[in-house]
Parts: sequence; C-alpha cells; structure tokens
Amino acid sequence: MKEKYAALFEAIELKHGGQLKNRFAMCPMVVFAADPATGRPTEEDIKYFERRSKFADLLLTGAITIQENIQGHPKQLALYTDDAIEVYSKLAEAMKSNGSKAIGQIQHPGREGAYGCYVTGKAYAPSAIAFPFLQYKVTELTEDEVWQVVKDFGLAARRLLKAGFDGVEIHGANHYLIQQFFSSYSNQREDYWGGSFEKRMNFAIEVTKEVLKVARAENPDAIVGYRISPEEIHGEMVGYTLDDSLKLIDKLLEQDLDFLDLSSAAGGNFGKDAYTYKAMPQKGDHTEPVSLVIKNFVGGRVPVVISGTIRSAADALDALNYGDVASMGVAALSDPDFKEKILADKEETIHMNVKGHTDDLELPAGLIEVYTAGIGLPQVEGLIEK
Ligand SMILES: Cc1cc2nc3c(=O)[nH]c(=O)nc-3n(C[C@H](O)[C@H](O)[C@H](O)COP(=O)(O)O)c2cc1C
Repeated sequence: MKEKYAALFEAIELKHGGQLKNRFAMCPMVVFAADPATGRPTEEDIKYFERRSKFADLLLTGAITIQENIQGHPKQLALYTDDAIEVYSKLAEAMKSNGSKAIGQIQHPGREGAYGCYVTGKAYAPSAIAFPFLQYKVTELTEDEVWQVVKDFGLAARRLLKAGFDGVEIHGANHYLIQQFFSSYSNQREDYWGGSFEKRMNFAIEVTKEVLKVARAENPDAIVGYRISPEEIHGEMVGYTLDDSLKLIDKLLEQDLDFLDLSSAAGGNFGKDAYTYKAMPQKGDHTEPVSLVIKNFVGGRVPVVISGTIRSAADALDALNYGDVASMGVAALSDPDFKEKILADKEETIHMNVKGHTDDLELPAGLIEVYTAGIGLPQVEGLIEK
C-alpha cells in the first residue's frame, strides 16, 4: 500500500462492539434479491454479501422493513417474525466471513411502501396528505399504531442481533417514515407526534430509545447507528433545514448511539447528484459542505459516516476531510475488491464499470432489472445499456 493511504486504515474505537479496523463502509443498498413471499434473504443475497465481505469493516444490509406488507418493492428484505431469524443468520455469517461487522439497516418506508400498498391497499404516513408524486392515497397512522411501529423497530433489532448481526442502523433518511415524521411538509399532526418542531422530533427519538433499549438488552455490545438526510428542501418546499437536523442530531446523540451516517447530502433527492459528501447546504448561513458542518458539530462524539460519489482511492482519502468513515454504494456494486486493491498497491485498477465483469460480481438479477428500468438510482457504468 502507498503510504499516503495509511489514514484509510487507521482504526476507530466505537462506544460498543469494539473498533472499526479501517475507514471504509459499504452503504446500505436494497439489492432486490429477497424472497417476495416472505422478505427473507435468498441465496443471491448471501452470495452478493460473501463477495463483498472484504469491501469494508462496516458492512450494511439494504433497508429491512420491520412489519409485513409495508415494503417499497417485492424483493426488499423484511423481518417481522422470529422464525425468519435462522435464514438471517446465514446473511450475518456471509457478511462476517472475513471479520467485518454486519449491520442491518431497519426501516419503515411509510408512504413510500408502494408494494405493500399494492398488496393491502394501504401505505402509511404521519398525515393523510394527497402527495402529488404518489399514485395512491396514504393512510394516516393512529397514535397507537405509531407506538406499535416504535416497538416493531425494537423487535427487528432484537431479531437481527439474535441472528448474529453486530448491530443495526436506524433508517431515518431518504424520505422514509422517520424522516416523514420530522418533516413539516409531511407531518401535519396535532398530537404527541406532531404540531411543533419539538414534537416532530419525537418519533425519531422514541424509535432510537426503543432500539437502544432492546438491542443492548439482547447484546450489551450491540452497535447502533442512525442514518439521516441532512436537509429536506425541494425548491420552495422546506421539510427541514440543516440547522433543524443539527438540533435533532443533538437530541439523538444524548442517547448512546455508536455512529451517525449521512445520506443524500444535497437535499434528499434519491437521484443523480444528490450524493456528494462535498455538497453545499441549501439554506442557512453555512459556508462549508454539509458533511463538514455535521462532522464539526458532532465534534467527535461519534464517528460520522459519509457517502456520495466516492469512486476511487483518492476520493476515499479526500472524504476523510469531511467525515470519519468513507461509505460507498456504487463502488461496492462495481468493484468489491476496492480496499484490497489499495492494500495491494493496485488502486489504479479500481473500476466502476460493471459490463464485462458481471461473472465475478454476484449482482442479483433483480438489481440489474431495476437498473434497466431506470428509476433514478446512482449511475453504475455498464449496468444500464445506453
Ligand atoms: C441500488 C441502491 C440501493 C439503495 N438502497 C438504499 C437503502 O436501502 N438504504 C439507504 O439508506 N440508502 C440506499 N441507497 C443509497 C446509498 O446508500 C448511498 O447513499 C448512495 O448510493 C450514494 O453513495 P454512492 O455514490 O457511493 O453510491 C441505495 C443506493 C443504490 C445505488
């Protein structure tokens, strides 16, 4: 390895679960391989992760839904019964087969649960708003149902830990239910869960409390992280600003979290250009990139994991100027040997071109299909026929 990359291999101590041996993470990514009938991982998921077990020390699954029939896609992972633990243990084993840490991302998609809505006629949301970008009506969660969702986040965490996962990441980003509760655009409630800025934070806080309580009761060393989209701004529509996020982050870090993971640093769009750890904030007086503002604000309380268009060894090294851990999505799909190539002094052979390499990549067929359909996922060269 070239000496200049040494910083990428400096360990960081976590509050729970030991240390991260290096500064690489694999972003949470739905890879469209789960069994549509049950949401359980299939052989395709397991092979995909085995192939990426050396990609990073911190490996995250794609979003795992925590209740039945709420998922966005039929091949998204789900975990809502104890009898699924056994098959999840195979996934944990594959992820940990080279000594990395396996983290399951737990999620409720809320209004984005298009497939669940197709099956049951219901997609849940904080408020029954007619969202112009949805082709279906949403169903407002009752107060009791919200508490049940909080409990189900905890249960999913417990099941993952029982399956041998080292920890979980609470998916508070990308416009899913937790973000929907935090957003003044999506949350128009007037109860414990909404009506003021303080109350719009309650759902994120209660889910975090519950997950921490249940996870640490199951395993005192459980790693618990939280993923946040730092801003929700689309033109005139302001769901929340970076300054709002900083207040929420403060509340979350009053609890015993192990890491903070930033997603979609340029406004929360799930599309091209939304992912860059160098993105500038859209509102407020900040003059530094979003990631750096958050890193400085967190001030070493927990490691900050950042992502977005990190595509080369030089990018990964540069990312450490903006965060503590460089997390990669597209690069993990395209070149699972990214880190090993840096170690072997062959970083110039790192590539983002899937075409011509598919035999060796163990990419699930469903992932390639979704890319071919083109739904605004970050570009993977060669995955889409141009
Ligand atoms: C195929 C695909 C699936 C994704 N699924 C998730 C997900 O389940 N949870 C999540 O938080 N982000 C998800 N993302 C976003 C990534 O975690 C990441 O933030 C984004 O791809 C930017 O990083 P990159 O430029 O290195 O790919 C997904 C991205 C891709 C490409």
